[in-house]
Amino acid sequence: MIDIPSPESTAQAFEDRYGRRPDGVWSAPGRVNLIGEHTDYNDGLVFPFAIERRTWAAVGRRDDRLLTVHSGAMPEPAQASLDALSPDDFDGWSAYVFGVVWAMRERGVPLEGRTGFDIMLASDVPLGAGLSSSAAIECAVAIALNDEWDLGLTRRELIYICQLAENGAVGAPTGNMDQTASLMGEPGHGVLIDVRAETADPVALHFADEDLELLVIDTRVHHEHATGGYGERRRSCEEGAAAMGVPSLRDLAEADLARAAELLDDVTFRRVKHVVTENARVARTADVVQADGPRAIGDLLVQSHASMRDDFEISCAELDLAVETALANGAVGARMTGGGFGGAAIALVDAGRAEEVGEAVEAAFAEAGFTAPIVFVVNPAAGAHRDL
Ligand code: GLA
Repeated sequence: MIDIPSPESTAQAFEDRYGRRPDGVWSAPGRVNLIGEHTDYNDGLVFPFAIERRTWAAVGRRDDRLLTVHSGAMPEPAQASLDALSPDDFDGWSAYVFGVVWAMRERGVPLEGRTGFDIMLASDVPLGAGLSSSAAIECAVAIALNDEWDLGLTRRELIYICQLAENGAVGAPTGNMDQTASLMGEPGHGVLIDVRAETADPVALHFADEDLELLVIDTRVHHEHATGGYGERRRSCEEGAAAMGVPSLRDLAEADLARAAELLDDVTFRRVKHVVTENARVARTADVVQADGPRAIGDLLVQSHASMRDDFEISCAELDLAVETALANGAVGARMTGGGFGGAAIALVDAGRAEEVGEAVEAAFAEAGFTAPIVFVVNPAAGAHRDL
């Protein structure tokens, strides 16, 4: 990917590579999840927001049926054909792009008679940090093609297309929080998602009004959802729901946990307990942030982290140290964010103390002998749109 990208630089990179101007430039953001982890594939509640870090896609139609995609970091473009689109042929990162086209076809978008396209990608969403760099690519490509091919698909349909690309072409068994946040984000707002009800409502977060900043602490511990413990957690949730006789864990409330403790083995019970209590925390967070403001959500963030550390067991030493150090240095709240097993933590801090908290985390990591983390501020930003 090219350095410090922008819509203009991405258009220029397209022109340098393909020898013509692109038809347009579209972009989609990464996301941070404020609260609600591993609830999305359980039909539950999630409360992420889109961030300013984005992936840009400069796109130009071709006059044949080929699809090519290039990013500054790759020496050769990846290529596919609209006539023979199979996830088996997608290679590495290009699956995020071609997977969207494949998923469009799978969900009933006819590809006959359409022309192919060239794409230049550029991104400043860090890879593997739990900030949904993959959803940013999928969503940027999806809205670009929706315009280029004049498909008239709704954002809701694009969410499902991008999720199918992730599940069916990339092979990661994720829910659709990332794609929903990337497509539905609004500046200054979180996206309160109810996966079962298929709703995604903007809720003002008021961080800046309350003089707060949200720090991302990228531990640089790598996670790999396609092969890691993510799928295993998902299976535990399905087993827990089946044993409790409900279609999904969304159908259980905190009052059902006593019965779950009797019916389920210890590990499955703790997985179920996390999801059930996390759904309740998401609902409470959305209520509290609207009634009392963002300073009042700190305890809920901390409880969420404890639940992931102790019950769902998806944290790691680096994430725990990031959270503990941020809290010890005055953070209002902190938790790991994303799929877990590495990636990033978030800390809600007084704007004036962001630097101090970041330095304290860096010092604690150095002392523990961990790889230096990357700490930066994120702001709730706009979802996917056309830039040029
Ligand atoms: C990853 C997945 C999401 C979600 C989170 C955990 O980010 O892509 O769908 O399941 O993990 O909350």
